[in-house]
Amino acid sequence: MDGLDALKGKYLEGISGAGDESALEEIRLAALGKKGEISLKMRELGKMDPEQRQATGQALNALKDEIDTALRAKKEALGDAALDARLKTEWLDVTLPGRPRGQGTIHPVSQVTDEVTAIFADMGFAVAEGPQIESDWYNFDALNIAPEHPARQEHDTFFMHRDAGDNRPPHVLRTHTSPVQIRAMQDQGAPIRVIAPGRVYRMDMDQTHAPMFHQIEGLAIDRDLSMANLKWVLEEFLSAFFETRVATRFRASHFPFTEPSAEVDIQCSWVGGQLRIGEGDGWMEVLGSGMVHPHVLRAGGIDPEEWQGFAFGIGIDRLAMLKYGIPDLRAFFESDLRWLRHYGFASLDMPTVHGGLSR
Ligand code: PHE
Repeated sequence: MDGLDALKGKYLEGISGAGDESALEEIRLAALGKKGEISLKMRELGKMDPEQRQATGQALNALKDEIDTALRAKKEALGDAALDARLKTEWLDVTLPGRPRGQGTIHPVSQVTDEVTAIFADMGFAVAEGPQIESDWYNFDALNIAPEHPARQEHDTFFMHRDAGDNRPPHVLRTHTSPVQIRAMQDQGAPIRVIAPGRVYRMDMDQTHAPMFHQIEGLAIDRDLSMANLKWVLEEFLSAFFETRVATRFRASHFPFTEPSAEVDIQCSWVGGQLRIGEGDGWMEVLGSGMVHPHVLRAGGIDPEEWQGFAFGIGIDRLAMLKYGIPDLRAFFESDLRWLRHYGFASLDMPTVHGGLSR
């Protein structure tokens, strides 16, 4: 019996000191396994006399239970400790702020294009498009600009290179969006109501000129359109765009593709060096316009005896400079991130006539 106390001390101590489950299993086998110390002692019971057998049997069973219980408790404790350790290493702080992600902005040219498109869409104008590399027929001839016409030089045209000996007329980088007028007439026939936003190219570079810039062409053709319709449409447009009532002044002018032609000024004032549109008694030119020339209608396959219409061309970049107070056109195309962040627009604020054009 004394031997049992020693056994108990040995095993309980071993169990409490076990560092992991396999050490624990070794102890279990040594004590309670088939050839374990306690199992062997159980086997010896048969050789004892009844009295001794009962006393020793009880003591052995109690010892076996005690070791068993200690083993289970230790096993559970080891499991908990392992889980704790794992939770500690895999710990995640869900309250940490997220990693910052760079957010782009909408370029003022895109913003203004969207604003202008929204306003004209509201007046029933669809969007038309044409190529930036044009034949000189679409860019000039069809628009009543004859080969020797000074406008070809005035436009400071970029001509596409042709091989020596190739005498076909060169293609050009379109100098204005007016060739889209011809393409729209050819594609759709009359009546027409379209605007054509896009890039145009001229050899020119200073604070208010870049070799690539943007225009929006407008074209309306119907059975009895007049300058009155043109004036109304432009005043509606300019007032919606500048978000204030804007008076216009039509000045007689000349474009080969319109007759009569007019340059359109908007009312403005300069107060303390600040431009205010729609007030005061100053005028500033913003666009060219006129009634589509019969030659141009014919070039587009439309009979000028039956149809007439008006056209206009506006500089998008210039509109952006005026509306958003941007002083230098060249910066538009330098991709300077500080400039883009400063003058850019939030990407989810799509301009609409009902929801507001700008924020
Ligand atoms: N195409 C002309 C320009 O670029 C503008 C314009 C368009 C004028 C339509 C009249 C009619 O200067």
